[in-house]
Amino acid sequence: MTTGTHAGLPDQYGVAGHPIAHSWSPFIHGMFAKATAQNLVYRLFDIAPEDFRRETLRLFTSGVRGLNVTLPHKQAAAELVNELTPRAARAQAVNTIAYFDDIQLLGDNTDGVGLITDLEQNLGLQLAHARVLVLGAGGAVRGVLAPLLERDLEQLVIANRTAVRARRLAADFSDLGPVVGCGFSEIEGPPYDLIVNGTSASLQGEMPEMPVGLIGEETVCYDMAYGRGHTPFTLWARSLHAKRTTKGWGMLVEQAAASFALWRGIKPNTQPVLAALAEHR
Ligand SMILES: NC(=O)c1ccc[n+]([C@@H]2O[C@H](COP(=O)([O-])OP(=O)(O)OC[C@H]3O[C@@H](n4cnc5c(N)ncnc54)[C@H](OP(=O)(O)O)[C@@H]3O)[C@@H](O)[C@H]2O)c1
Repeated sequence: MTTGTHAGLPDQYGVAGHPIAHSWSPFIHGMFAKATAQNLVYRLFDIAPEDFRRETLRLFTSGVRGLNVTLPHKQAAAELVNELTPRAARAQAVNTIAYFDDIQLLGDNTDGVGLITDLEQNLGLQLAHARVLVLGAGGAVRGVLAPLLERDLEQLVIANRTAVRARRLAADFSDLGPVVGCGFSEIEGPPYDLIVNGTSASLQGEMPEMPVGLIGEETVCYDMAYGRGHTPFTLWARSLHAKRTTKGWGMLVEQAAASFALWRGIKPNTQPVLAALAEHR
């Protein structure tokens, strides 16, 4: 695959979402670009759902080389691109679009590798034989199910406010390992090794009502959401004495590094960016 460049001018990248003003992606990609001496700019594009197809195609026509795609556009992005990587095809959700002269718009999904890298390498967790509960059944969860199941889990439970979406997702991924889907009220103990919050409830300042007995003294609780201070999910987990609570900063940086590698052919070092973000949050 080849990418065209306009000699001397920085290549254009960005993130499309709605809302998007809170995004740290320009900061992260700015640090990656500086560290790897890449001549690029990275901007925020606030695009409403009804405008996503038209605006995204307009951006690529006007010379944009790559986009990250975030809430609520990941499934629409999978329908827009010309070709999907195998992991994006499996997820039917795209968080990274790259323009290449030969195939034009390639859709990838780096959320899974972002979460797994953070869990295993940054947090030092062993996922093999773990019992894992994932809350939510939206675009982000679609991206992380296959890489989680590839870790040889003992059990993966997907629970969602709209239970039918969780059941459908579990059926879609059941060839990869032991996975079931249910509504929140149907989740059963004993306590899980890992609970991942992939709902957007934290962004609304909410924590859905959960049954008792899901968190024990060895349970690690991971909120994909990020921001300053605690989220309703991490507060809930702390109140039940979870072993460890963490937010999605590491996933954010690791998925960004994988997007950057697809666009530029260089894998940036994530540790300086994680350290810089730790000072800001
Ligand atoms: N750290 C990272 O790198 C990273 C990457 C991707 C996403 N994220 C975060 O992950 C979260 C989900 O993103 P997404 O793209 O998957 O969003 P999405 O596709 O819009 O899905 C939203 C999910 O949240 C559920 N939900 C929404 N409001 C809820 C509420 N009040 N109570 C319970 N459930 C609720 C929805 O349930 P229904 O099906 O019932 O509507 C759905 O399962 C966001 O917080 C996002 O910021 C973080």
